[in-house]
Amino acid sequence: MEETIFSSTHTSLVADARIAVVTGGNKGIGLEVCRQLAGNGATVVLTARDEAKGAAAVEKLHGLGLSSVIFHQLDVTDASSIARLAEFLESRFGRLDILASYLVFVNNAAVGGIVPVDDPSFGLLPTEEKFSGMDGHQRIEWMWKNCRQTYDAAKAGLKTNYYGTKNVTEALLPLLQSSSDGRIVNVASSFGLLRFFTNEELKRELNDADSLSEERLDELLGMFVRDFEAGAVAERGWPTEFSAYKVAKAAMSAYARILARKRPALRVNCVDPGYVKTDLTRNSGLLTPEEGASRVVAVALLPAGGPTGALFDGGKEASFVVAVVTGGNKGIGLEVCRQLAADSITVVLTARDETRGVEAAEKLSGMGLSSVVFHQLEVTDSSSVARLADFLKTRFGKLDILASSPFPCSIDTTTTSSLPLVCFEPDQ
Ligand SMILES: NC(=O)c1ccc[n+]([C@@H]2O[C@H](COP(=O)([O-])OP(=O)(O)OC[C@H]3O[C@@H](n4cnc5c(N)ncnc54)[C@H](OP(=O)(O)O)[C@@H]3O)[C@@H](O)[C@H]2O)c1
Repeated sequence: MEETIFSSTHTSLVADARIAVVTGGNKGIGLEVCRQLAGNGATVVLTARDEAKGAAAVEKLHGLGLSSVIFHQLDVTDASSIARLAEFLESRFGRLDILASYLVFVNNAAVGGIVPVDDPSFGLLPTEEKFSGMDGHQRIEWMWKNCRQTYDAAKAGLKTNYYGTKNVTEALLPLLQSSSDGRIVNVASSFGLLRFFTNEELKRELNDADSLSEERLDELLGMFVRDFEAGAVAERGWPTEFSAYKVAKAAMSAYARILARKRPALRVNCVDPGYVKTDLTRNSGLLTPEEGASRVVAVALLPAGGPTGALFDGGKEASFVVAVVTGGNKGIGLEVCRQLAADSITVVLTARDETRGVEAAEKLSGMGLSSVVFHQLEVTDSSSVARLADFLKTRFGKLDILASSPFPCSIDTTTTSSLPLVCFEPDQ
């Protein structure tokens, strides 16, 4: 079927064609995404900035029998390269009836925004053994110890990971809009979560996709660059480690949500592939590229009419910000839950009494606030606190906001960093 699509003599309607365009498809997760999408029957336009590497990747996939993969050059930081890709796609697909169906654009290309510092004892890319016995945190710590953050690398990180993604997306929007099932899948990262920011105002702005504009995002990124140059990253509440990568990924996620709001006909989602062994992580990841890519592909292949503006993590729809509210069944606590949920925050409404807590959560659900979940919490009972901490760890792996009345409460926050504690007066 795919050969028919690409035949220059093609004139007939291809009703169920799936077309995918993938950036940074020559290696790592991107190459695997191309392989898996092609294996799922999609026609894949594998793009890469380097012609030779891109052509070699396509050859490799052809060698696996995946003849529906074609190559087109794309450097996401180069406006003329972006324009050439858009023209190519338009001329190849723009006038065909296949646009009545599925077209997905996978924003995968990225750089680390850091300069690796090489330990001569293991060479450029460490082998698997280097990391055996290390857990995820230790591996990330190793990565951090073996890199430097420089101004040029940070700027390159923003240029590729945020502006590159945004510029290519915008160039392809007309084509995506003309498809009845146009999708954008941004390969996001847990490093782009707002918990790495300690500036509460910044966090609030980045999380509020309903009010945030692209212009404001540009201003915020401009501020980051100036703060980075001035050595004021920590002081101004930006992420301190892998700063540019985290800021760019957070901006990319915010942009995806802005786009989802502005273009309701498209499905615009972000997906975290997990911690994957690739050149980007210098092989330190816990997952194989196949495993990481399968999470991206699952989102690319969601049934039509699925979610938009969502973040997928570990194969599940996740939340950008998770808040716990203690004593959330009535009074101020309940109102705090309502307002947080109305701000697109996932809220864990807690109450010591199960029945009253469930009723309160149902009340908020009835108001259309579906991001509220209940969990029992008696703040003076250490086993109840431990059960809540376990629940948070398993369900979300993080906690961004703890809104608590000023009773003693010792939620274990070791899984979280920079926990903002919001206190309110106890309900009478
Ligand atoms: N690996 C992880 O643990 C992990 C975790 C979370 C998210 N991610 C995300 O997953 C995606 C893929 O990362 P990966 O781990 O597979 O990294 P990778 O193996 O280093 O691949 C990165 C790809 O991006 C391409 N690229 C870089 N700059 C480009 C540009 N200006 N124009 C076009 N292509 C460009 C690279 O091309 P060259 O070969 O020419 O450099 C390469 O094809 C990224 O968005 C990354 O942020 C990865």
